[in-house]
Order: sequence, then structure tokens, then C-alpha cells
Amino acid sequence: MLYRSFPLGGSLLKKRSTASSTSSWIQEGEEYLMATYARFPLVLKKGKGATVVDVDGNAYLDFVGGVAVNILGHCDPRVVKALQKQAETLLHVSNLYYNLPQIELAKLLVTHSFADKVFFCNSGAEANEAAIKLARKFAKEKRDPSRFEIIAAHGSFHGRTLATVTATGQEKYQKGFEPLLPGFKHVPFGDAEAIEKTITPQTAAILLEPIQGEGGVRVPPKGYLARVREICNRNGLLLILDEVQTGIGRTGRLFAYEYEGITPDIMTLAKGLGGGVPIGAMLASVDVAASFTPGSHASTFGGNPLVCAAGVAVMKQAAAPAFLKKVREQGNYLMKRLAELQRKTAVIKEVRGVGLIVAIDLTLPALEVINKAMERGLLLNRTSDQTLRFVPPLTIRRSEIDRMLTILSRILLEVSDAEA
Ligand SMILES: Cc1ncc(COP(=O)(O)O)c(C=O)c1O
Repeated sequence: MLYRSFPLGGSLLKKRSTASSTSSWIQEGEEYLMATYARFPLVLKKGKGATVVDVDGNAYLDFVGGVAVNILGHCDPRVVKALQKQAETLLHVSNLYYNLPQIELAKLLVTHSFADKVFFCNSGAEANEAAIKLARKFAKEKRDPSRFEIIAAHGSFHGRTLATVTATGQEKYQKGFEPLLPGFKHVPFGDAEAIEKTITPQTAAILLEPIQGEGGVRVPPKGYLARVREICNRNGLLLILDEVQTGIGRTGRLFAYEYEGITPDIMTLAKGLGGGVPIGAMLASVDVAASFTPGSHASTFGGNPLVCAAGVAVMKQAAAPAFLKKVREQGNYLMKRLAELQRKTAVIKEVRGVGLIVAIDLTLPALEVINKAMERGLLLNRTSDQTLRFVPPLTIRRSEIDRMLTILSRILLEVSDAEA
């Protein structure tokens, strides 16, 4: 194995595990885990900031960040402290009762967003599932009993439950699970007119990601969401924004909708909200939220004191204007440097993104680049055969961006030379 030895200057690089090694852990993993992921041959043991370390003591610069989850880096001290304190105080109580961290987190989310009310769950898919149910109930009760349809976009990703996989505009996630749910239609992303043409008397809501994350960091044309908002207003439809990936500072604003000067009726969050613990949230304006009454929807673990304590620690940092400004600066720097790299190599076709959700399209297999990067101590992620996505911790330092670019540019130059 090469690298895996970039200067960290800390105790992270010390080998502590004598019990096992990568290959024997992988053997056990393959024996006991369902094969729902094509996993890389890497067994991670610990992390700090933007660095993770495997069971053999090799360190990796992490530009995947748990796929846009570890927004404050690994084991952020304030998140860890909040979890430790809460674990010693109260781990779980039923939602038949109130708990303090849940109220505190809901208040923080409401204070910093368009929303008036919050429903907590455990993942992005569950948050979208809740959003779909709320939209249907609201539309039937407040508009017309015949309304239930939701218009979503091709290329979108909303989760893996049956409703959210139906909402997802990519067939590859749906194959084998038919029959899917009735009531979902898909239109090209970024095309407001297509939405307008697809509306029927049965339409209840429009469901969109402000930027399609899993779809390859697709940024819609400026003004798109504002036009969709206007279409929703004119037709009495709800606008649901899935900010599971873009929310909590990823784009350099706390929520991506802020860039368009509009507000949704419903918004879903997960990923970064817990800074590494599983949490989801569905936020809504007060009149829409009113369609959920006791018994309408529920989650045993949703809004559990432990995860909400982490969420509070995350929100207190991520909502700070200085934090968000830094995300914009680092994102601009990353995009600028990638654009420079694009001018130097013929293998980058396009660079796109906002804040620290960035992608490059390559002329060669992204997997080849990812494997080579891993050998050199860098974790990268792809959204398709030829697209690399960068969703590092939002606390990523300039020196770490430089380090990533040094490794990436060497790989791209080597690969393009070999191809020439
Ligand atoms: C935009 C978006 N929505 C929903 C989801 C599903 O979230 P989860 O995997 O937490 O269910 C994802 C996950 O990648 C996502 O990117």
C-alpha cells in the first residue's frame, strides 16, 4: 500500500489495533452483512476532522464525509460532548412525552428557517415519506379530496422506502420493487414549463431537490425554484423541497432555497443535521402542518433526546454566519482550483457545484480515479460512471483542499498520459 501517510502530526496514525487486519474484517463483514453496498476494501476505525483511519492504522483524507453527513468533520468535540452529556442524562423516551433536546432543536430549526413546525424521524427517506403523507393529507383536506399526485424530477433521489423510491426519478433504484406507488409523475429537472404542463386537477404537490445530489450535483438554472414557487401559488399546490443533502450549510447558506429568495411549504432534512448520528426532520408552515394531528404519523425513535442533543450542537455551529461564509469561500476555492485543473488536463469535461457540493464530469471511469486515490490516502465518491462528487466536511481546511487536489491532479495526469 502506498501513502496513507500524509502528515497529520497526531496520534491518529499510531497503530492501536492488534486484534485484526483489513482482510480478516472484510471476510467477516461479507459473511454477516447483506450485500446492499458494493463496498471498498477499507475497514474504518476512527476519525478526526477530515481524516479517517483504518484498522491497519492508515489515514485517509475524507472528501466523502459519510456522503455529506459529517459536516463538522469526524468526532467534532462539541457534538461528542453533547452526546456524552445526554447519554448520561436521558437516552430515550417515547414521543408520548416531551423531551428537552427535541424542543430545543425544533426551536432552532424554526428560528432559522421558513418553517413553523417540525416532525422528527431518523433518515432522509423517512423525512420525505412524512412530507409525501402530509402533502396528500393537506391537499385532500384543504384543496380537493381527489388530489394526491406529486410531480417530481427525472434524475432526483428521495430515498429507498417504497414511496420515496417511487418519487425518485431514476429507474435503476426502482427495478425489482414494482408495483410502485400510484400518484407520482416525473418531469425534466430545471424545466418549470414541464411542471406546468404536467399539473392535473389531481396534483397535490411538487417535490424537488434544490440541487440534485445523487443525480450528479445538478444545479438548475437560476430562477427555477422561484418560477416553480409561482406555479405552486397559482395552482394551489404545495412546494416540497428535499434539502436532505443541500441543507444545514452544504451550499454555503443554511438552506439552499435561500439562494432563490423563496420559501417552500414543506422541507426535509437529514444527513448533516445530526453531524454523524441518524436523524431526519420534516418542517412545514403552520397551516400545512395542521393537517397532521395526533395519530396521523409517528416514529418511535424520531426526535430521541440523544440525536437531538447532537442536532442542537450542530445547528449552533452551522447556523452561524461566519461558518456559512467560510463554506462559500472554501467552495469557491475548490471550484476555482478544479477549473484550473480542467484547463490543464483533457479528462475533466465539466466542473459544477455550489458551496461544498461539487462535481466533475470525467472522460474516464471515475472508479479508476477513486481506487487510485484510495491507494494514496484520499477518499473520493462518484455519482455515476464518469462523475466524481466532492462533499467533504464543511470544516475542510484550505490545506486539505490543496492536498486533495495534488493527489487528484497527479492521478488525472497519469491516467490521461497512459491513455494518450
Ligand atoms: C436528496 C436526498 N433525499 C433523500 C435521501 C435519502 O436519505 P437517507 O439515506 O437518509 O434515507 C438522500 C440520500 O442520499 C438524498 O440525497
